[in-house]
Amino acid sequence: MPLTMEFDIKAGDFVLAGEASSKIKDTLKKLGVKPEVLKKVAIVSYEAEMNIVIHSVGGVLKAIISKDKIEIIAEDRGPGIENIELAMMEGYSTAPEEIRNLGFGAGMGLPNMKKYSDYFEIESQKGSGTRVYMVVFNK
Ligand SMILES: Nc1ncnc2c1ncn2[C@@H]1O[C@H](COP(=O)(O)OP(=O)(O)OP(=O)(O)O)[C@@H](O)[C@H]1O
Ligand SMILES: [Mg+2]
Repeated sequence: MPLTMEFDIKAGDFVLAGEASSKIKDTLKKLGVKPEVLKKVAIVSYEAEMNIVIHSVGGVLKAIISKDKIEIIAEDRGPGIENIELAMMEGYSTAPEEIRNLGFGAGMGLPNMKKYSDYFEIESQKGSGTRVYMVVFNK
């Protein structure tokens, strides 16, 4: 039976930011998941969580842990992405100055989610939410 973890992610909350992905990582560690797999899930879940905190009005981060794979799903309630192709480019970021001063906004989150996951899918539309679905094989 898969183990599902689900977290509400608040927009703009930099105190709690990273907690959800950190809990997912701790759980996988306890389950004895290999370091390479752990590293990949830690990167993609953290970047997905931070994008909800920074760029959305709030959403949910979910992890579904099965024997052969770990699925990470990030879903938010908006504002959506107008041009996904552009958003996927390394270095592209709309993060404002104050967010860059906190060390975010390199425009590397989405490219790294794609790079470190074994399957990556993003759905978004301006005016509705964004959904990122990723799979990391547990092998
Ligand atoms: N959930 C989201 N909702 C709305 N826009 C988003 C969302 N995720 C990403 N974006 C848009 O895509 C751009 C690129 O995202 P990406 O994660 O690659 O970089 P970043 O978050 O700006 O910087 P970094 O992740 O390196 O700190 C963002 O700047 C933002 O414009
Ligand atoms: Mg990002």
